[in-house]
Amino acid sequence: MQHAVSKVDSGLGPLQAKLQPTAMKVSIIGGGGRVGSDAAYALQLGKVVNHIALMDVNAELAQGEALDLRHGASLTANQTFSGGDYGVCENSDSVVITAGLRRKPDESRLDLINRNLALFNGILDELKKVKLNDGATVLVVSNPVDILTHVTVKRGLLPEAQVMGLGTVLDTARFRSLIADHFKVGALDVKALILGEHGDTMVPIWSSATINGVSIQSIPGWNDSSAETLFDATRKSGATVIAQKGGAGRAVGISIKEVVEGIALDDGRLLPVSAAQNGKLGIKDISLSLPTVVGRKGVVSIFEPKVSDAEREGLLKSAQALKDMYAQIGSPVTA
Ligand code: 2OP
Repeated sequence: MQHAVSKVDSGLGPLQAKLQPTAMKVSIIGGGGRVGSDAAYALQLGKVVNHIALMDVNAELAQGEALDLRHGASLTANQTFSGGDYGVCENSDSVVITAGLRRKPDESRLDLINRNLALFNGILDELKKVKLNDGATVLVVSNPVDILTHVTVKRGLLPEAQVMGLGTVLDTARFRSLIADHFKVGALDVKALILGEHGDTMVPIWSSATINGVSIQSIPGWNDSSAETLFDATRKSGATVIAQKGGAGRAVGISIKEVVEGIALDDGRLLPVSAAQNGKLGIKDISLSLPTVVGRKGVVSIFEPKVSDAEREGLLKSAQALKDMYAQIGSPVTA
């Protein structure tokens, strides 16, 4: 597979991405909301995609968010911004769905499903009417993201590989940042994964966690108690941010940018996005997060990571919890 990076191997490399954004139109459904608008802002500052469209049921709000972004274009990159109703999603290369009701502080993501499913299926009904570019991808962010990703896969609007969910990309970002704070090292050097459900059954993969290649379990200050504290803080991060500021925006926006730019650049990025599982670690017939190579047309390959017995058991429990919930939402609406 020809990676976009080789196309810019004219010696300019990353500079090229800064000089001329990649031709990719990204539409954000829910672009008037906190998550959608923060994702749009992150994509603007990333300077990789060349067209950011914001769609919202409140079309005026989406237009205002697009105008606010456009005002900054002369100081960032040659990007196009548009805002409005579903019409702005025409000819998209990637659609990000952030619209949905937010969890209440004491509500689990799986409990949210009953309030969000009808709304989400309505979004897919509308998206079905929109002409998307060949090979377009959909990135689901709305919660519970693994369930809604699987609903989208089963809906069949696009080939399965072209449908992903943000999954545990945000949890992995939080996990790494909190580990960096604890050990007082650079956050960019921490390589540790959260896999499984973006929710209560998420699994920390300590067995392969490193700080720039140094096993985290060999770092001074590492012990079971600090590990549990760090994971507990990660797992509760969403609820904590909801309680303190009403809901996440900045980190989830950056996490969305990381996936969307990986799609745009087709640079072989390995991310824990949620995707329909095909049997790795014995998990299939549900969508959840395993290390996944992401490319211009979505899922390129899903890796089967080497994990401890306890981690494997946790991932199987996560898959089962999601399957049980998915079974409760009734037979999937088909395309
Ligand atoms: C979170 O964990 C929005 O589910 C997202 O904050």
